[in-house]
Amino acid sequence: MRVGIGADHGGFLMKEQLVRKLAEEGYEVIDFGNMVHDPDDDYPDFAIPLARAVATGYVERGILLCGSGVGASVAANKVSGARAALCHDDYSSRQGVEDDDMNILCLGGRTTGIEVAWDCVRNFINARFSGAARHNRRLEKVKQLEQSVVAR
Ligand code: RB5
Repeated sequence: MRVGIGADHGGFLMKEQLVRKLAEEGYEVIDFGNMVHDPDDDYPDFAIPLARAVATGYVERGILLCGSGVGASVAANKVSGARAALCHDDYSSRQGVEDDDMNILCLGGRTTGIEVAWDCVRNFINARFSGAARHNRRLEKVKQLEQSVVAR
């Protein structure tokens, strides 16, 4: 699986750790930056390119990090086709994919420890959308918003 990852300064250290762990597990990791720790950088500059890469299928899944994970998820969800969510636990990281077809996992570099973050990443990457009728029905309602001129 090709996985994209991106972070601002608040998630930079965690990104470096997760890139290493993902590479060790054999994943192809595309790093959307930041490539250096810059305390003045802005999370949309990494979240939006990554979200576009997920939405267009260039990467299958995305992982976004900022200090809290909030800004990254807000920015990523502005891109049509991105379904980003901030998670703090393995259950949500897995179930968000199975039920909601989440394709971007957001984590807080300042709020979540690396071991819990890694558990979240593994659950996220190993999960698959169930395709159950009720979940498809709910997802269709969300996708309709993306087609709506009013919502955009
Ligand atoms: C940056 O200091 C911080 O605001 C950002 O990383 C993130 O936590 C925003 O949600």
